[in-house]
Amino acid sequence: MRRKNLVVLVSILLLVLMSVTLTGCREEVTPKTLRVGTSADYPPFEYVDEQTQEFVGFDLDLMRLLAPKMGYDKVEIVNMDFDTIIPSLGADKIDVAAACITITPARLEEADAVEYITTGQSLIVKKDSTFEPKSISDLSGKKVGVQKGTTGEETIDKGIEAGEASNVDVRRYTSVILGMMDLDAGAIDAMVIDTPVANLYSTKYNYKTTAELVAETAGLFVKKGNTTLLNALTNALTEVKGTTEWNNLMEKYFGGS
Ligand code: ARG
Repeated sequence: MRRKNLVVLVSILLLVLMSVTLTGCREEVTPKTLRVGTSADYPPFEYVDEQTQEFVGFDLDLMRLLAPKMGYDKVEIVNMDFDTIIPSLGADKIDVAAACITITPARLEEADAVEYITTGQSLIVKKDSTFEPKSISDLSGKKVGVQKGTTGEETIDKGIEAGEASNVDVRRYTSVILGMMDLDAGAIDAMVIDTPVANLYSTKYNYKTTAELVAETAGLFVKKGNTTLLNALTNALTEVKGTTEWNNLMEKYFGGS
């Protein structure tokens, strides 16, 4: 009887010891994951590769390049509507926002950013369109698509508010892809998107860019006050910019421009 008790006790102790050791090991090998928030509707910055169904694009490949230099083993892409990305930083749902996000004073009140590329807001129409808007005033009486929460939306809203155009029917899309489909179907007359995105659609598909309304700078964003992460991101970016890896990414997604 006594001997049996001893065996039970020793077994229990062994089990406890084993589980402690195992947990210890597991903690050591847990990969450090960088959660990158994006809106994968914006080639060449972020989109879903039709063949592999993977999230690709300049921003996402860049983050995959920067993450190891920032001390992370893995990148997890978190896809969401554009207008929820910056709030997701504040809510700790993501660590970095990479979505061709224009740096604006309002956004810098909500989050911190490091700039990485120049861009702008451009007007795009169907390739065979006789309507070729060069400015906001040309949009009077027309249907214009914008993505919700973007500087493209803001540019159009402010222009209308300032009286530059009247009777504009502004269609607000959660996804740029839906807007481009409506443009293709003739349901809207023009769409406002970032210049490099407009250039890609003009070169590869049935659209043409008619004007750039405003020049902008885009940044990679982190939660407001997270200086450790912002510094790591800035340093990694400085390290990578101008290297062959960076140039290859530029060439792959922007054709060297
Ligand atoms: N640059 C614009 C902005 O920051 C639009 C960005 C849209 N990005 C996207 N992945 N859909 O407001």
